[in-house]
Amino acid sequence: MEKLYQKAIEAYLNSYSPYSHFGVGAALLMKDGMIISGTNIENASYGLSNCAERTALFSAYTLGYKKEDIVKMLIVANTPGPVSPCGACRQVISELVGPEVPIVLSNLAKVEKIVKAKDLLPFAFSNEDL
Ligand code: THU
Repeated sequence: MEKLYQKAIEAYLNSYSPYSHFGVGAALLMKDGMIISGTNIENASYGLSNCAERTALFSAYTLGYKKEDIVKMLIVANTPGPVSPCGACRQVISELVGPEVPIVLSNLAKVEKIVKAKDLLPFAFSNEDL
């Protein structure tokens, strides 16, 4: 867990967020022990910004990992309590992460709230709705 925090905080420190000044870091622990991190990357065209959670998940899939490979996800920000993932990230997590996978919502002080992926977005839109 210490290593996961280290990687998530490292990603947080690399946040490109000149508009919101709100950095976020995410780190995924994979079954093979690999840790894949992501940060939020903003754009002057605000809507093109990408959240830390999605950056990490898209990187994992880019490297060939699948949802079965994800053991745990950690998300941190400089918030008083555990950071709350946005709706778009909850939707993406609902498809790319297994339902029982623990998502550790936390902050720089390591105040944690641990939820299962499936509990982040009840009644999520899925491929079964298509
Ligand atoms: N952000 C994330 O990266 N993850 C979240 O779960 C919440 C929001 C980013 C998006 C934007 O760059 C900044 O935080 C402020 O909304």
